Formats: sequence, C-alpha cells, structure tokens
Amino acid sequence: MNWPNRVLMVTPEYFDVEYAINPHMRDAQGNLNTIDKEAAQKQWQDLKNTFEKLGKEVVTLQGQAGLPDMVFCANQTFPYLKEGKMHWVLSQMHSPERQPEVAFFKEWATKNDIPTYDGMPTHFEGMGDALWNYETRQIFAGYGFRTSPEVYATIEEQTGQKVTTFELKDERFYHLDTCLSILKGDCAAFVEEAFTPEGLATLKQSFSTLIPIPLSEATEQLACNMCTPNGKDVILQKGASKTVQSLQAQGFNVIEVETSEFIKSGGSVFCMKMLLWD
Ligand code: ARG
Repeated sequence: MNWPNRVLMVTPEYFDVEYAINPHMRDAQGNLNTIDKEAAQKQWQDLKNTFEKLGKEVVTLQGQAGLPDMVFCANQTFPYLKEGKMHWVLSQMHSPERQPEVAFFKEWATKNDIPTYDGMPTHFEGMGDALWNYETRQIFAGYGFRTSPEVYATIEEQTGQKVTTFELKDERFYHLDTCLSILKGDCAAFVEEAFTPEGLATLKQSFSTLIPIPLSEATEQLACNMCTPNGKDVILQKGASKTVQSLQAQGFNVIEVETSEFIKSGGSVFCMKMLLWD
C-alpha cells in the first residue's frame, strides 16, 4: 500500500469552542477557550499551503454552521483501500454535538464516487483513534474515551487488515492520534504517560524505533499530533524543541507550523486533515 497522495481539509469559517468534550477546550479557570477567528483562518490556510508545497493536492469540504469541530476531519471517516479503490468507514461520533458532521462526509463521498460503510455497531471516531501504518498495512487503534473496542472487529472485517489495540487511560490523550504518531513502517513517536504497561509492551514489539515525546510538549504543543504525509517530512506545531531534535536525529525533515487556535479545541495538524488515495 502506498502513502495516500491527496489531503482533505474542512474549511474553518465555523470553527469555534462552543462546548467542552476534552480537557484542552477549557482554560485554567474552567471557562471555554476563546478563539481568534482571523488567526484560526490564517493558521488553517498556512497548513493547507504547507501540504501543497510538499506536492500534495488538497481538496476541501465546506465547514457547516453549528458544527464547530467539523474542521477536525481526521475523525468522521476511516479511509482504506479495497481492490485498489478507496472506501470509507463512516464514524459514529461519541458526542451528540459532533454526530451531525458525518452526514456531510457521506454526501461528499457519494459525490466523489467513494463507497461508504456506515454499519459501525457503536462509537468510533475514525482516524482520531485508528491509525494506518501505511508501509506495513497494519492498523493501530485506541479505545477508552471516544471509541469502543468492539468496533475493531468490524474494521478488520471491512479492511481485511489486522488491528492492534491500545487502551487509553489519560483524558488529555483522548484520541490515539494525540499520543501515537506512526512515521514510517518501523518508526513511531509516542507519549509514554498515555499508555498502559501492556500498551507500551506492544509498542516496543511493533516498532524498532520509538521516539518519546516529553509530556510537556505533548500537552502544550500537542506535539504527538504531528503528521507525515510521506514518511519523510513531518509537520507539527511550533515550539516542541525536544520533539523536533529527536525527529531530526532520525532523519526526518521537520516543518513547524502554527496551530495554536486549534490546540485550544484539543486538535493540531494530524486532526486537521485526512489523507486520501486517488
Ligand atoms: N474538539 C475536538 C473534539 O474534542 C477536537 C478533535 C481533535 N481531533 C483529533 N483527531 N484528535 O472532538
């Protein structure tokens, strides 16, 4: 299986923090974070340009009024290849506030001739929790906060690939994509504090190179929510200096971007895109 060649992003005009469904969405006083809409728009555009500079075609889906989290388009679908053609499993979002987002992805898929499966038996938040190792074709998947473990039997059935699961135990790392980043077939970055001892053992068996992300960078810069679209370039939030050094030491080309407005909602680069095959 090849790395996907396109990127889907959802336009940010309705992005906001209107409710709190993860601990990043409130400030130290417990109030909902305030978003600078203009800054968010610019950060989103810069991220889009970054993917384009790396040679990826970015396709967009229109954000919708009343769905402030729709911009986090890692969560509503799980793309996979079946006989060389991309299909999507549609998510069943955990929170009622986000459930209506999925219909817009289904509609977009239909228009773009992408077959969809929407028989998830219970909660599943797409590539927030189920991560491809694009090089080995394995799926690494989290459960505990947003996704129920039962769904992974369905994912194995639909994709024909093996799913390795991890129980998430720290609510700051509510999606697997906040604490595990698969960078190459044998290399991943991870946040030790987010995993159980069994999970850590599985990670060690699965990757010969594991890059630890310091807790402070994983929470303040959401550093583990980095994205590589190709196994070489890694895009992440600015300012995670230890993570940057470790990535460079492994030979990755690191590109730092500003996603601070989106971090106020609990998401950064990985959450703001979906990689798609043609
Ligand atoms: N506010 C959003 C939520 O809590 C952020 C989602 C971030 N996405 C991600 N893949 N981690 O659902």
